[in-house]
Amino acid sequence: MDNRPIGVFDSGLGGLTVVKELMRELPKERIVYFGDTARIPYGTRSREIVTRYSSQSIRFLLSKNVKMAVIACNTVSAGSFEPLSASFDLPLVSVIQPGATAAAKATQNGRVGVIGTSGTIRSKAYPHAIRSIRPDITVYDQACPLFVPIAEEGWGNTEVARLTAERYLQGIRQKEVDTLVLGCTHYPLLEGILSSVMGSEVRLINPAVNTARQVREMLQGVNQLSQSKVEPGIEFYVSDFGQNFQTIGSHFLGKKIQAQCIDIEEY
Ligand code: DGL
Repeated sequence: MDNRPIGVFDSGLGGLTVVKELMRELPKERIVYFGDTARIPYGTRSREIVTRYSSQSIRFLLSKNVKMAVIACNTVSAGSFEPLSASFDLPLVSVIQPGATAAAKATQNGRVGVIGTSGTIRSKAYPHAIRSIRPDITVYDQACPLFVPIAEEGWGNTEVARLTAERYLQGIRQKEVDTLVLGCTHYPLLEGILSSVMGSEVRLINPAVNTARQVREMLQGVNQLSQSKVEPGIEFYVSDFGQNFQTIGSHFLGKKIQAQCIDIEEY
């Protein structure tokens, strides 16, 4: 057993979609969350910068004595997983493989859509991962960068979100996909709108669900699940208070969030 917390990091509040699934799958685990709210978005930045920012996030989590780090951010998982894994002696979990596995399993007609940030779509990480599981699948992808500020603003369920989704998803809808991967932490915050724009027959895949399952299996496999009798808590850290982190985060998780601000440049 290992009572140290699980570390989770993202560029902002979107990674709370992964925290939510971890809480469901592993209710006894403590979690330390870091959202790099001072430097969001990552999705429009170069791979080098994203890797450097993520290294600082991991060093911060290590200072909190975590037993593993879950890379909630799809942009980081898609473009920086390998250099980060090579640099740190800490188990790292990416959201790409779990999301790809769920999509490959879900599709019936072999036509899968993937949406994400510009960085994630440019990396082609999802199409590669999906086709390495099932080469017969055709993947159609589309960058939807405006969904991130819409979610961060708390507008995930508004007319603005709907109009933006209709515009971005037009091409993918015409391809008659039966499965759509929400390849960005923030997109589950627009799930209702995305589902109504795509149609109820299209299965939406939130990679966070399978990621949480994979985390449980990994910890079980190495006998590192927590056995602590103390009520598990979540510590939230951000690099800037300027965002709606606490308000939207509390609403999304259904519990009050109290975040502490840290200087990420020190790590
Ligand atoms: N967390 C990012 C992702 O999942 C989205 C926000 C950003 O661009 O930083 O790709």
